[in-house]
Amino acid sequence: MFKIRIPATSANLGPGFDCFGLAIKVYNTFIFEKIPFGFEFIVKFKNKEIPINQGDNLVYVAMKETFDMFNKSMPGIRLIEEINIPFSRGLGSSATAILAGILASNKILGNPMNDEEILNLAYKIEGHSDNIVPALNGGFNITIIENNKIIFKKVNVDENLRIIIAIPEIKIKTKESRKILPAEVKREDAIFNLSRAALLAASLITRDYSYFPVAFQDKLHQNYRAKLIPGFYDVVSNAYNEGALGVALSGSGSSIIAFTISNEKNIAQSMIKTFSKLGIDSEYIITSTDNEGALIID
Ligand code: HSE
Repeated sequence: MFKIRIPATSANLGPGFDCFGLAIKVYNTFIFEKIPFGFEFIVKFKNKEIPINQGDNLVYVAMKETFDMFNKSMPGIRLIEEINIPFSRGLGSSATAILAGILASNKILGNPMNDEEILNLAYKIEGHSDNIVPALNGGFNITIIENNKIIFKKVNVDENLRIIIAIPEIKIKTKESRKILPAEVKREDAIFNLSRAALLAASLITRDYSYFPVAFQDKLHQNYRAKLIPGFYDVVSNAYNEGALGVALSGSGSSIIAFTISNEKNIAQSMIKTFSKLGIDSEYIITSTDNEGALIID
């Protein structure tokens, strides 16, 4: 028996659309046990069992894909999934399942794949790199696709930088929320994002947050997606009013992520209250960056 623990991730971080991702200290844990045959699984979300079909279980999908790639048949597996990362909220829940399936298969097969091969297979299944890379590596990651392969740079993030995630009840499928984005962008919007993405990466690397509010601005995706999240602009501005240093839509939403050095409780409550005034239930998590990434625990 072995366990795999994988962190939640927040992609984009404002201007880094499809190329920035950060790992967060909220975890899904996957417990694998070999059995004589078959694939048995239980999925628990916050300790409560939830129904899911085998074909929709991304751990199974990723295991099957990995064993098929090596022309091997899957051994009997019993899997317990302890899920704490809410689904369809822009927190990389599916990336954890895909990576867990690949990492478990790799271990069972005697580690034929290195990290690069693991990431490329995960990218093939997930279709984006910006959750998978930080989920495996931890930290802040700049991810690039070059000739259909992932290139990345990881940076350890200051764990004193507090992270608040406001998670509304609204579910958003990444695929759907990409359809509402324009196919082409204006040159001035491209320059706007390029400059801020560079500033944000430099700020995280140097741990100098003085330009954070500017560095988190975006013109490529958030304004379009805001339509799917009532109160988005108010939640963002109220978080800033309470002292947040940077605020962004997490991945394709619906969660909103805020960064601060202090006052995290008040920031979190102001975000939740803003949603609640619009009749939207939400919860918050106060945490920090996970710099470790995926862990296999024997
Ligand atoms: N970067 C993706 C998007 C989500 O914003 O659509 C995470 O993979």
